[in-house]
Amino acid sequence: MESPPPVRALWFQDGALWALDQRRLPGSVHAVRLSRVEEVAHAIRTLTVRGAPTIGVAGAYGMVLAHQEGRLGSREAADLLRSTRPTAHDLFVGIDTVRRAWDAGEDVLAAAHHYREEVVGECHAIGRAGASLIRAGARILTHCNAGALATVEWGTALAPVRVAFREGRDPFVWVDETRPLLQGSRLTAWELSQEGIRHAVIVDNAAGHFLQRREVDLVIVGADRITLSGDFANKIGTYEKAVVAKENGIPFYVAAPWSTFDPERHHGEEIPVEERGAGEVLQWESVRTAPSESSARNPAFDVTPARYVTAFITPEGVVPPPDIPDLLKRNGKGPSGRDASRADASP
Ligand code: MRU
Repeated sequence: MESPPPVRALWFQDGALWALDQRRLPGSVHAVRLSRVEEVAHAIRTLTVRGAPTIGVAGAYGMVLAHQEGRLGSREAADLLRSTRPTAHDLFVGIDTVRRAWDAGEDVLAAAHHYREEVVGECHAIGRAGASLIRAGARILTHCNAGALATVEWGTALAPVRVAFREGRDPFVWVDETRPLLQGSRLTAWELSQEGIRHAVIVDNAAGHFLQRREVDLVIVGADRITLSGDFANKIGTYEKAVVAKENGIPFYVAAPWSTFDPERHHGEEIPVEERGAGEVLQWESVRTAPSESSARNPAFDVTPARYVTAFITPEGVVPPPDIPDLLKRNGKGPSGRDASRADASP
């Protein structure tokens, strides 16, 4: 397996979950200790811990902490964690994986560790599959952060970039800054800097400019939820990038592990889109940047129709949208597979 990137989003140690505080990066590299399920829920809600696969793993360990504490039943603990963020399918898969072990009287910590290892292993497979799309010196546009911080380690959209880099193909990454919380300029640029991968931060509104000028060879983004039709949710602004990429004939790829695929939803309109507080738009940290009279809307995600997706980069290879139902069935992830029980269905 490839050498790991020098970043790990979270780890379980001495009966507690430790997580890099992603609100404070890159200014401060600081880990928080989470010893109660309520603290894990708060960390997910506040984006201390973020990125779809990472919050799935955090949800899994949150269940372990609830089990250790013994104050809540499995349903109450799961409901608490499920209420934190609605869009990322991974969150529900992580929680439900450990809940099943809890209800069956099995070792919940082993279940959470196993789930984390699966996610990390799938990200490595995504890296190997996607690296074939990156030729020497390729310029890749990405949005938000779909690196190690968002997936525990390694990444989804950044995984093929890391493999291409290790193979000496010297990729270059255009990093959308990703308003309003700057996951691109704070987190993706930080991860790339840690490894010495060439990149430049651009304001979100500049992506179309570089796509139009053919200064981007391909786009790779992550996802929070992918439906059977291939419509998918990702960080707000992804839809615009996909439309402009297609308009300019530039391939657009979506990299994701199995937990991001929702076998119960067929189309994008069925995806719950999180709307966050106006404060994230109207102020930066404690400094108000808009007039005190102004209100705001703050959808955290948007939904991109499958017709804009060239292919999905999955643990099993690069597949076009129409192949998703078969792909999931073959891998035991279809509507009757591991993640699909109606009782556990996400909102
Ligand atoms: O609100 P965030 O920072 O959790 O949003 C994260 C994203 O949109 C990522 O692109 C997505 O979770 C994919 S992570 C591999």
